[in-house]
Amino acid sequence: MKELNIDSLSGKRIFLGVSGSIAAYKAADICSQLSKLESDIHVVLTAHAAKFVGEATFRALTRNPVLVDIFDEPTAKRIAHIDLAQSADLILLAPASANLLAKMAHGIADDMLTTCLLATPLSTPILAAPAMNTVMWEHPATRANIETLQSRGVQIVEPYSGLLACQDVGMGKLATIEEIVNAVVRRLHQNQYLAGRKILVTAGATREPLDPVRFLSNRSSGKMGFAIAAEAASRGADVTVVSGFTSVIPPDGIEVVQTLTAQSMFEECSSRFSSCDVFIAAAAVSDFTPIEPSDQKIKKSSDNDNQFLSIELKRTTDIVSTLAKQKRKDQVVVGFAVETGDLLVKAHSKLASKNLDLLVANDVTQQGAGFDTDTNIVSILWADGRIEDLPLLTKREVAEHILNVVKPMLSE
Ligand SMILES: Cc1cc2nc3c(=O)[nH]c(=O)nc-3n(C[C@H](O)[C@H](O)[C@H](O)COP(=O)(O)O)c2cc1C
Repeated sequence: MKELNIDSLSGKRIFLGVSGSIAAYKAADICSQLSKLESDIHVVLTAHAAKFVGEATFRALTRNPVLVDIFDEPTAKRIAHIDLAQSADLILLAPASANLLAKMAHGIADDMLTTCLLATPLSTPILAAPAMNTVMWEHPATRANIETLQSRGVQIVEPYSGLLACQDVGMGKLATIEEIVNAVVRRLHQNQYLAGRKILVTAGATREPLDPVRFLSNRSSGKMGFAIAAEAASRGADVTVVSGFTSVIPPDGIEVVQTLTAQSMFEECSSRFSSCDVFIAAAAVSDFTPIEPSDQKIKKSSDNDNQFLSIELKRTTDIVSTLAKQKRKDQVVVGFAVETGDLLVKAHSKLASKNLDLLVANDVTQQGAGFDTDTNIVSILWADGRIEDLPLLTKREVAEHILNVVKPMLSE
């Protein structure tokens, strides 16, 4: 088993939100400490925070773009606030002003930081380190806001009593940098039960060549497989994705092996299977491939009477079934079944015939489910006949569910 380095935050994406408190300058030090722990930090400043500390400081410390305005869009491909909110392993708000806590408690999204926070999945850990004048801290409005946030799972890194910038002495001083960094490290390592585990995932669509320019493929985007990979990596796993064609930019911290055909995907998986603890086959693999792909572009016939073209196909190797039949007792194999009707009947027979431990089944005809969407509606089937139907969830949330189900199945 790989040793878990208790302090390293390598591969972790932290989103640091800084608001307009006199303690904002301390956020630079927090950022520097977290950066030394090898985390990937993305900073969002409120407009008021940017008056206390400049964007350039955080840009230099993190080597990432710093966002302030809701229209700050560093890459044209993604909407920044959604991307940041959905890709963070943890959100740290330090310092958190009374105003920021109030806006969060009430779901206000009127700048980049608060919009990101409202777009954050409820499962993402949020730590808030408040800093403010004692009267603000003790105000019933702030007390109620903190209570609301805590009831939603936000962890408050408590301020302490001392001499404040306004020369008052009392509660409201930002927790020490050490306390804040330790709270982040503790929270990120809490859920590291996959540390030392090898997870092999397939993702995307295979392409079976008909000729040098055409292929047989399917509509899989790879989003589900890569969501599983990202979630497993954030839980400490050593993740390899054997990928077919995909539109997904692979997340940091995972190994990606690029393949094209069902056969090459099978070979890459096969050579890695015996060393993995969990194999999750989320790729959409072609069941058939042309027997003899043409080495020249297939031409239309000049004969007008000849309107048809026949291509002979042969079965490809069923990757998940072949490997699941070789699995040891200490390995867990999860398959996916994409169906268009009679979902559960077909899924049950697949689970048994392929020797799977779990099957994640979805009916792609349902609104919000299936290919190239960011959401999915799936049922999880166990070998002993249990079924769990999940509601419409983001693919990352589906990934969390799958890994939660796999957790008790792992060997000691
Ligand atoms: C010099 C100065 C120091 C401030 N310090 C704090 C503070 O420590 N905590 C706080 O909640 N507000 C503080 N404020 C007030 C906030 O900046 C103000 O409420 C602002 O609206 C917060 O906006 P934001 O939450 O969008 O950053 C301070 C204001 C000034 C001018």
